[in-house]
Amino acid sequence: MRRRGPQVDCTTTIGTVVLPNPVMTASGTAGHGAELSAYLELSELGAVVVKSLSAEPWPGNPPPRLKPVAGGMLNSVGLQGPGIAAWLADHLPALEAAGARVVVSIWGRRVDDYARVAARLAAASGAIVAVEINVSCPNLDDGREMFARSPAATAEVVEAAGAAGLPRWVKLSPGTANLVEVATAAVGAGAAALTLVNTLPALAIRTDLRRGAIGGGGGGLSGPALHAVALRAVADVSEALPAVPIIGVGGVMSGIGAVEFLLAGAAAVEVGTATLLDPHAPARVLAELRGWCVANGVTRVAELIGGARG
Ligand SMILES: Cc1cc2nc3c(=O)[nH]c(=O)nc-3n(C[C@H](O)[C@H](O)[C@H](O)COP(=O)(O)O)c2cc1C
Repeated sequence: MRRRGPQVDCTTTIGTVVLPNPVMTASGTAGHGAELSAYLELSELGAVVVKSLSAEPWPGNPPPRLKPVAGGMLNSVGLQGPGIAAWLADHLPALEAAGARVVVSIWGRRVDDYARVAARLAAASGAIVAVEINVSCPNLDDGREMFARSPAATAEVVEAAGAAGLPRWVKLSPGTANLVEVATAAVGAGAAALTLVNTLPALAIRTDLRRGAIGGGGGGLSGPALHAVALRAVADVSEALPAVPIIGVGGVMSGIGAVEFLLAGAAAVEVGTATLLDPHAPARVLAELRGWCVANGVTRVAELIGGARG
C-alpha cells in the first residue's frame, strides 16, 4: 500500500475568493493564457494571473525590453497585449479548459480605459475569479504621473473597475513614499485585496553606448533584489490595514520566499521572474511551501499569515 505523507491544508481566502493554495503566477511573466500548461498543471496553482490587458490592442515598448542586473532584471515590455476582446476570444478558452482559476489583470492610460476594459469582463466566464487592477502605469488624465503614486487617482481607477462586477485586487507600486495612504484609498474605493508589489522603477546604463540599456528608457526591477522591498511593503500595509487580504509579489524564487511573505502578512503570493528562469517555478514554489510546512509541523498554511507581525 502506498503511504501518504502528512497533509497540509493549503487553502487561503482572499475576501470572497477561496483558493486551494496561495501560489499564483505574477502578471506578465506567464504568457497571455495557458502557455505554462506545457510545464505544469494550471489547475493545481492557486490561480493564474494573466498579463495586463487594455481596452484595445497595444504594441508595447521598443526593444531591448529586458536587461539582467545584479540580483534580478529590469524590464520595460510596455504592456504589449492583444486587447481584451481578442484575449477573451483567443486565450481565455484554453485557461478554462485547463481548469485554471483566472485573475485578469487590467491597465489603462486614462481612468475611462479601466472602465471600458472592466465592462468587457462583466459578461465573461465563471473561470475569472477576480480582476487585478494594475495602477502602476502613467495617468494621462493627470500629466504622466503613475496612478499608484496618487491616492485620489488610484481611488478613481478602482471605482471605474467596479464595472467588472468582480472582486477587485489592486496592484500597487513600491516606487512611492505614501504606499499606506494609496493602499487605504484603494480599499476605501472598493478594493477587496491589495497586490504588493509591482516592479520598482530602475535604470541600467550601457557604458559602451553611453545610454540606457533598455529601449523604453528606464525599466522595472524584479527578482531577488526586489524581495526585501516587497516584504517591507507587505508588512507596512498589513500593519496599517490588518483586515485587508494582501498578495505578496517580488522575488519569490523558492518556497522560503513564499513563507516569508505569509509571515509578513500576505494571504497569498505570486511568482514572476522565477518563472522566466524556470517555467516550473510556480509548481516548485508550492511543493517547497508544502515541504516547509511539513518539516515545521504546520498543518494549515493560513496559520502562517501575519505570524511575523509584532
Ligand atoms: C517581463 C515582465 C513583464 C511584466 N508585466 C506585468 C504586467 O503586464 N502587469 C503587471 O501588473 N505586472 C507586470 N510585471 C510585474 C510582475 O507581475 C511582478 O509584480 C514583478 O516582476 C515582481 O515579482 P518578481 O520579482 O517575482 O518578478 C512584469 C514583470 C516582468 C519581469
